[in-house]
Formats: sequence, structure tokens, C-alpha cells
Amino acid sequence: MKKGFLMSLLLVFVFVMTACSSETGSKEKDGDKAKLDIFSWWTGAGEEDGLKALIALFEEEYPDVPIENAAVAGGAGTNAKAVLASRMQGDDPPATFQVHGGAELNEGWVAAGKMEPLNDLYEAEGWNDKFPQDLIDMVSKDGNIYSVPVNIHRGNVLWYNKHVFEENGLEAPTTFDEFFEVADALKAKGITPLALGDKEPWTATHLYETVLLGVLGTEGYGKLWTGEIAFDDAKVVEGTEIFKKMLGYINEDHASRNWQDASQLVANGEAAMNVMGDWAKGYFVNDLKLAVNEDFGYTPTPETDGMFMVITDTFGLPKGLSNADDVKKFLSVLGSTEGQDAFNPLKGSIPARVDADVSKYDQYGKDTMEDFKSAKLAPSLAHGSAAAEGFLTKVNQAVNIFVTQLDVEQFTDSLTSAAAELK
Ligand code: GAL
Repeated sequence: MKKGFLMSLLLVFVFVMTACSSETGSKEKDGDKAKLDIFSWWTGAGEEDGLKALIALFEEEYPDVPIENAAVAGGAGTNAKAVLASRMQGDDPPATFQVHGGAELNEGWVAAGKMEPLNDLYEAEGWNDKFPQDLIDMVSKDGNIYSVPVNIHRGNVLWYNKHVFEENGLEAPTTFDEFFEVADALKAKGITPLALGDKEPWTATHLYETVLLGVLGTEGYGKLWTGEIAFDDAKVVEGTEIFKKMLGYINEDHASRNWQDASQLVANGEAAMNVMGDWAKGYFVNDLKLAVNEDFGYTPTPETDGMFMVITDTFGLPKGLSNADDVKKFLSVLGSTEGQDAFNPLKGSIPARVDADVSKYDQYGKDTMEDFKSAKLAPSLAHGSAAAEGFLTKVNQAVNIFVTQLDVEQFTDSLTSAAAELK
């Protein structure tokens, strides 16, 4: 009897211990402090310098909190998003993770009930008027705020090699017609007009969305995600035709290059232009040591002057963590002016805060901060803000096929049927 009772006690003890050890998130091991694992896709050239600077700043302020850079390589989260999904499904969330403001956060992790609201943190840090309202809206759902933006990247930027343009007497194009005139002139000289590296297909989607923005404007572009403009609309098809024409000017080895490799073609003058978010500026300046406005120039992609394709990288607090207080400490550093000014000059983005130190940014950063204030904003599809992940995955697949087959009709059909995911 006594033996049986002891046995049951033991079983209960084992059960409780097992339950505790399967507690989600960063686990504490034998008196160790739970580790802050910071999950992102910022590894390698042009990506990781800003993150490392942010982590160094955190370590300076909180030397007792062990922190781990848990980045998974692959531009735009090509691999990281899948790893994150399986960790979240397995109730093993990272302490905090990179997530784009907009649909990726709100229709994804917040709708799935996986995130803690951060209204108290915003209140305590006095952040409610320190971030632009548009950005706070992108990280909010049903009146609650769910993440902290570390930056604002611009997606609709055309980068060009200044030396190549000067030597050939060319001006940066501002319209599609000018783009094709410049492209023809470059082609005649044996220079690849447009660099693309779509080994990871999102880069081609990125190019396509800037064309759609140019053709439709911010209002029309916004109507794509609400279903008010269909993907077989004449204007969208016009955009696809322009995209197709652009693909006639790219490097032959585009499918074996990633975004950095494609940017490199522009840097070394083998290609003249590329369309990429301004993480490319971080890469040009910090990794390739090029000078802004001397070696390379920048201009909004054709017909998007006064428009700003917004990509905001944000970090939130997953539910069920044992070290939520430490996560909040990290978020408070990330959301501080010091944190933003350590991260963004290296990353290529502008600070998300309105009161950052402008003197810390180069001419590109200063121009972009100015543009952001007056521009009409558009959420990026390629980077998860405009529409839910299911739709984006299908668009990436369709774009990837289109780049090789160039079949406008088939592509239009694929987009139209993918749009069912939007409802
Ligand atoms: C974006 C992200 C940027 C940059 C880029 C390339 O999705 O917002 O910060 O990392 O991918 O990887």
C-alpha cells in the first residue's frame, strides 16, 4: 500500500517535471539563465552587420543576459520562415523573431494566437508618438500592438553604376520608356542593362511588384490586395508585359545568383542597374566599400516617384516564454534611438523612430528619410506586408515559372487563381 502510494507520487513527480521541461521558448537549464535567441535571416554580406551592432549594444547594457544570434541564412526569409513555422508549431518559439509588419505579422502569428500584445511596453517606453502612426498600424491588430519596428526599408529603388552611366552619357531613367531607352543603349555597348539574381525567386517578385506600383499607383496597387482590382485587369496585364520586356535585358546567369551576387554585377560594372530594397545599399557600402553618389546612384523605380514601398522588419514577443522580461529588455534596446541608430546605418534602412539622429546617416539615408515623410506608402507583397503568406508563396512560384517561360496568359491565370487565397 505504502509502496503503491510512493510509486504514484513518483509518477506524478515525473509527469510534472516532464510538463515543466516542455515549457515553450528558451528553456532554463540547471540554474542557467534562459538564453535570448534572436531569430532572423540576417546572415552574410549586407545583412548581419546591423544585427551584430544591435546585439553588442544589448550586451553592453545587459551583460548578465545570455544572448544568441539564431539567424538562418537565405534572403527575405527563404529558409528562415519555414524553420520558424516548425518551431512555432512545435511550441518552441525563439525568444523573439524577425517578422514584417502587415499581413505576415497580423494575419499570420497574431491571428494564430501566438503573440503577446506589447501595449504596456509602448506605454512604458513612451513609444506611442515615437513611431509613425502608419507603422504602428502595420504592427497592430484589433487595437493591440504586437511588435516593435527596428527599421524602414524602401523596396522601390533602382540602383545604378555611376561610372557606367557617366561613361555612356546616360541619365537615370524615371519612366518605363526611359528605362528601355537606357537599356537599349547599354545593350548596344555590350553591358548587361539589368542585374537579376533569382536563385531565390522572391527577387523577381520584388521587381514585378515595383512595376505594378509604377503602373497602378499606390491606390490601384492597394486594391489588388482587397480584390477590388483583379489580376486579369488590363492594367495588371500591362504591368506584366512591361515586366516581361524588362526580363529581356537581364544577365543570363540570373538563376544561379542571389541578390548579393546580382548587386555585385552592378558594383563591378558588368551590369548597369538593379532593382532591390535598400539592404543593397548596406551591401554596397559596408561590404563592397563603394561610395554613395560616386560609385553608385539611386532613384525610385520607374514611375514610382513620390511613392514608397515599405518594408519594416519588426520583433515581437511570442506567447509562453519563461524569459519574457528579458525579451522586453531586448525590445526596449531595439526600439531605442541608440538601438535604431546602431542598426540602420549599417543595414541600409532608415530608422523606424521619428526622432533618430539624422547625422548618423549618409546621403542616401537622409534623402530616404525625407522621402518617407511625404511619400505615399505601399506595402510590399514580396516581403510579406501586403498579403498573407499562402498567397505570396503561390505568387513566387508563378513568377519563377514566368521568368523562364514568359507566358503572360498562363501567368495571369496563375495569379488569378492564387487570388482565391486573399479572400
Ligand atoms: C527582407 C528584409 C530585409 C532584408 C531582405 C533581404 O525581407 O525585410 O531586412 O533582409 O529581406 O534578405
